[in-house]
Amino acid sequence: MTPSRPEDHASGAAAGRSLAGRRVLVTGGAGFVGSNLVRRLMRDGARVTVLDDLFTGRRENLPPDGIEFVLGSVCDPAVVGRLVALSEIVIHAAARNIVVSTRNPREDYETNIGGTLNVLLAARAAGVERVVYTSSTSVYGNPRYLPINEDDRLSLLTPYAVSKLAGENYCMAFYESYGLATAAVRYSNIFGPGQDPANPYCGVVAKFIEALFAGRAPVIHGDGDQSRDFTYIDDAVEATLLAAASDRAVGEVFNVGTGVETRVNQLAEILIRLTGVRVEPVHSDRRDVDNIRRRVVNIEKTRRALRWVPEVTLEEGLRRTVEWQRGQARPGGPAAPPAPETGSGGPR
Ligand SMILES: NC(=O)c1ccc[n+]([C@@H]2O[C@H](COP(=O)([O-])OP(=O)(O)OC[C@H]3O[C@@H](n4cnc5c(N)ncnc54)[C@H](O)[C@@H]3O)[C@@H](O)[C@H]2O)c1
Repeated sequence: MTPSRPEDHASGAAAGRSLAGRRVLVTGGAGFVGSNLVRRLMRDGARVTVLDDLFTGRRENLPPDGIEFVLGSVCDPAVVGRLVALSEIVIHAAARNIVVSTRNPREDYETNIGGTLNVLLAARAAGVERVVYTSSTSVYGNPRYLPINEDDRLSLLTPYAVSKLAGENYCMAFYESYGLATAAVRYSNIFGPGQDPANPYCGVVAKFIEALFAGRAPVIHGDGDQSRDFTYIDDAVEATLLAAASDRAVGEVFNVGTGVETRVNQLAEILIRLTGVRVEPVHSDRRDVDNIRRRVVNIEKTRRALRWVPEVTLEEGLRRTVEWQRGQARPGGPAAPPAPETGSGGPR
């Protein structure tokens, strides 16, 4: 059920208004989520700086003009200190991803924990108004109950889950100890336009679409009955900006998902239908990072506190993503097949 929105709520427009003209630093701003955040912030009139080491991000993900782009690492306290001191709001999205983290926990530790500590120390020193930390539903591991609430028992099954939770804990400790206004959003499997299939660590949606466009069968790791809560990028961006703008977000952590559980087999079926490519998925062995069986989160707290509701259904989000990826066919690469005639080339 969609809750009604009271007059005083921080709607998307309200969040946008309150961020207009504000100096916002987005770490990891050249990545998938970060670049979508940046574009939205620019549309809302914020003055945006991006700090990114281009580990997985790309400069081309960002508009050529209208932002300050700084090539550098959150592991460098000097550059972090300088940029944070010039900002009113920090959205901290830079991180090593789960695959890199599992392969190299030290690198994960340095960026995801050390980098976050650098951001928080700089934010405290500069007295910034808000730090929003992009955490992950990976911290829930294999939950006992579904849907998962924010205060349910956590189970840390990967070094990535450990580092993302450490970042969250530091945010809360800086709020409690020093009064720094922090908030954390726990994203659940974000997908959508801008998720680069050429990035070897990108999510399953972009990978499946890329395979289908190349006429290959999507490869499902394991039996495909594992489930996730897939969240469309615009909804994740909206929740993040509300966490940056709303007083109710301070000192809190919020699930950002949909409350809808989808099996990977179902996801493959939908994408095969939307792309119109006639193949059957194939199954391969499960990877070491695939140790979570089911995930769907409860979003009631986020709905109530931030007056946020996810607006894009899985089907509509996948439709938009397929169309975006169709338009991205690389020069010299395989051409994407034409959209099927059954009307799946829907609005963007
Ligand atoms: N995409 C998801 O489904 C998802 C789910 C849960 C959490 N998250 C979190 O959201 C954030 C953004 O993830 P994403 O999906 O956009 O991934 P991404 O890899 O596309 O973006 C991460 C960005 O951080 C940059 N980066 C990495 N290490 C850095 C460093 N040391 N210094 C500066 N920049 C660095 C990368 O170059 C990249 O641009 C991350 O914090 C991630 O943990 C994402």
